[in-house]
Amino acid sequence: MTTPKLEVKNLSKTFSLNSSLTYTVSSISMRINYGEFVSIIGPSGCGKTTLLNILAGLEKQTTGTIYIDKQKNQKLLGKSGYMLQKPLLLPWKTVLENVMLGLTLKRISEKKAKQEACNMLKKFGLSDYANYYPHALSGGMAQRVALLRTILFNNQFLLMDEPFGALDALTRLSMQMWLLDVWQTYKSSVLFVTHDIREAILLSDRIYVLSSSPATIIKEVNINLPRPRKHEFLKDKKTVEIEQLLEQLLLNL
Ligand SMILES: Nc1ncnc2c1ncn2[C@@H]1O[C@H](COP(=O)(O)OP(=O)(O)OP(=O)(O)O)[C@@H](O)[C@H]1O
Ligand SMILES: [Mg+2]
Repeated sequence: MTTPKLEVKNLSKTFSLNSSLTYTVSSISMRINYGEFVSIIGPSGCGKTTLLNILAGLEKQTTGTIYIDKQKNQKLLGKSGYMLQKPLLLPWKTVLENVMLGLTLKRISEKKAKQEACNMLKKFGLSDYANYYPHALSGGMAQRVALLRTILFNNQFLLMDEPFGALDALTRLSMQMWLLDVWQTYKSSVLFVTHDIREAILLSDRIYVLSSSPATIIKEVNINLPRPRKHEFLKDKKTVEIEQLLEQLLLNL
């Protein structure tokens, strides 16, 4: 079996509210192989963000073991690039400066950071926006900038929490293709959270379906369909079958 980038064994998280303990995620075991694109879908409030926060090292699990590159329970903070639903760009910094942040966080010199950030903006078609401030960007453009910043911080292991959830359908389509391009360029290992079944199928090698709270994995679906994928791929007979299966699963939760 391929070595995993990430392996999670029996992960649970409880919060204590009004002196009673509630489970948010319960007995989650999962893996992401190197270069694999894995999605998580599950109902609202089931614990997806909590799971990503734990994997990013922002919260601590109650029980369970996390391995990254086969190493057990190491310090997780900084081991992944974490992209949130909202782009969270600093309004007083330009696009270029916002993208550079991914590198300055790694204590790379300003000169080198600027050079790398410029190259990145050029490579992914954002050079014309380098001196814009975030308020002048469309939602899709702001997400692209946030993604480049995340990738400059860590392009090998990406955690993405519904990054396209707030975008209109058309922008979303172009962002999905753009993300696949970025993923293929860096051969990143990705864990992607979404509510959108079709988005999960289009992007993923594998999908984990989570139950309602407390979240456990109720199904793992392999998307063994050819790449590169284009949107027409969603009309494919096999794709539609998987979509119906996932829809049924989520409707019955
Ligand atoms: N710090 C906390 N203290 C208490 N309960 C919490 C805390 N953080 C999250 N929860 C609870 O854990 C559950 C899961 O929350 P989480 O944000 O992980 O869900 P989600 O699957 O990401 O939801 P959505 O799809 O709406 O983004 C919720 O019921 C929430 O109220
Ligand atoms: Mg969430």
